[in-house]
Amino acid sequence: MENIELLDQKIKDSKLGGGEKRIASQHKKGKLTARERIHFLLDKGSFEEIGALVEHRSTNFGLDKQKFLGDGVVTGYGTIGGRLVYVFSQDFTVLGGSLAESHAQKICKIMDLAMENGAPVIGLNDSGGARIQEGVVSLAGYADIFYRNTLSSGVIPQLSAIMGPCAGGAVYSPALTDFILMVENTSYMFVTGPNVVKTVTNEEVTSEELGGASTHATKSGVTHFACENEIDAIDHLKKLMTYIPQNCEEKPPVLPYEVGRDETREALDSIVPDNANLPYDIKDVITNVVDEESFLEVHKDYAENLVVGFARLAGRSIGIVANQPAVLAGVLDVECSKKGARFVRFCDSFNIPLLVFEDVPGFLPGTDQEWNAIITNGAKLLYAFSEATVPRITVITRKAYGGAYDVMNSKHIGADMNYAWPSAEIAVMGAKGAAEIIFKKEIKEAANPEEKWKEKEAEYAELFANPYNAAARGYVDEVIKPHQTREKLIRAFKMLENKAKTLPKKKHGNIPL
Ligand code: HXC
Repeated sequence: MENIELLDQKIKDSKLGGGEKRIASQHKKGKLTARERIHFLLDKGSFEEIGALVEHRSTNFGLDKQKFLGDGVVTGYGTIGGRLVYVFSQDFTVLGGSLAESHAQKICKIMDLAMENGAPVIGLNDSGGARIQEGVVSLAGYADIFYRNTLSSGVIPQLSAIMGPCAGGAVYSPALTDFILMVENTSYMFVTGPNVVKTVTNEEVTSEELGGASTHATKSGVTHFACENEIDAIDHLKKLMTYIPQNCEEKPPVLPYEVGRDETREALDSIVPDNANLPYDIKDVITNVVDEESFLEVHKDYAENLVVGFARLAGRSIGIVANQPAVLAGVLDVECSKKGARFVRFCDSFNIPLLVFEDVPGFLPGTDQEWNAIITNGAKLLYAFSEATVPRITVITRKAYGGAYDVMNSKHIGADMNYAWPSAEIAVMGAKGAAEIIFKKEIKEAANPEEKWKEKEAEYAELFANPYNAAARGYVDEVIKPHQTREKLIRAFKMLENKAKTLPKKKHGNIPL
């Protein structure tokens, strides 16, 4: 009996983390505890803890008197929607959730199990970083995790939610994972904090401004989701899981769906304005094509000229990449190219078919773009699409101009099916600019240059401001009426369901980074 009591006592102690006072202080900050987060994340009663009795071995700086069972991180496995996931949740109530030898070993253990058993890892981060008292073993612990993050990349999905501090080198574990979610006002990420920034650059900046959720959701793109509160972040994690498979060998989960009920979408016929210079919201196209309320936008507030996200089509998971004519006319630039490339590569890694909506006037001109390497960054998107072997379909809703036509999942770089709406304009550039260049002399010498320009513009537009030249060459497989889009896509993705394509044998490619 005594030994059972001892065990019960140890389990109780372990569950208390840093103690009631620190738990109250965590709650006072508007934060949940490590265990509460796991409770809300996983299916009820599914959590099995691993390593609840692990302790650190350090005696430095009084640490021998500060031992906490579990060593500041709760690790284990459970299910979300009945599917196995591995979880680690850092406990800020124990030495500020700081990471050292034992804490890192616990995380590595579940990462290894996840790789061997082909299931996702979800990390809930809330930590003051490397445990300063333990010195170099803390750094070694981080490196052990980074190494596993890298080897796991593309094999199992890795999701990171930042629910408190995440500073210094600690940021690189989330950065190596597939998705980062941050909580508004209670989480931050930076390599060096406001004090160091002030000393080195003399900039005065708060933690929130430097590395809060809004900053990383809008300015840096480090986070994919900025969530209102912790429960919202947990809901996002669960939703994200519904679109992605367990590992790179599996297909994403399919929701039951009876094809043929309501596939004609009349609303699509009137979204693209007659005047090609007027904007419209590509999200209206997306939501009218995909299953109701299935669109989950990723990087919603970052590089908004390109929209990316997950959705379902007849119950099947797809990844969407779409130019957004409502922002910068949907032009491709440095930031949106990186955003798009990363999303395409995630989808391709995990067998999620890609759907592209194209309305792009080209690449954004300017010194800012050139000096920030639009060449290298634009190439990322081109590379990502070109190497993707998942089913790939493009719908050209309006403009498909210049190099951007090639980049946006064109037939030539391996798309399986390319559709165009009758409003599509597939050309080297817009008619006005084209006429100015190729008829420069004629326009200049005309009695009325303006009139001549208009006449030549109309001539060029008649030849190219349509989808039929491309269709005549088979670059576009079919010109479809907008309201048919959903039905066509359901059928085409079904047709491509068993697509098997492999890349030439290589160690790995060399994406222009
Ligand atoms: C040891 C730590 C700690 C750490 C916090 N604590 N961070 N203990 N190592 N890194 C302890 C505190 O001493 C305190 O203990 C308790 O956790 C709670 O911390 P508070 O400071 O009271 O909380 P708060 O005011 O909310 O501030 C949180 C914080 C701050 C901003 C994270 O604690 C802080 O600045 N910590 C140090 C951050 C840091 O420099 N980390 C190293 C980064 S370098 P007591 O017992 O006093 O309550 C790094 C390298 C990784 O991580 C390299 C990988 C390659």
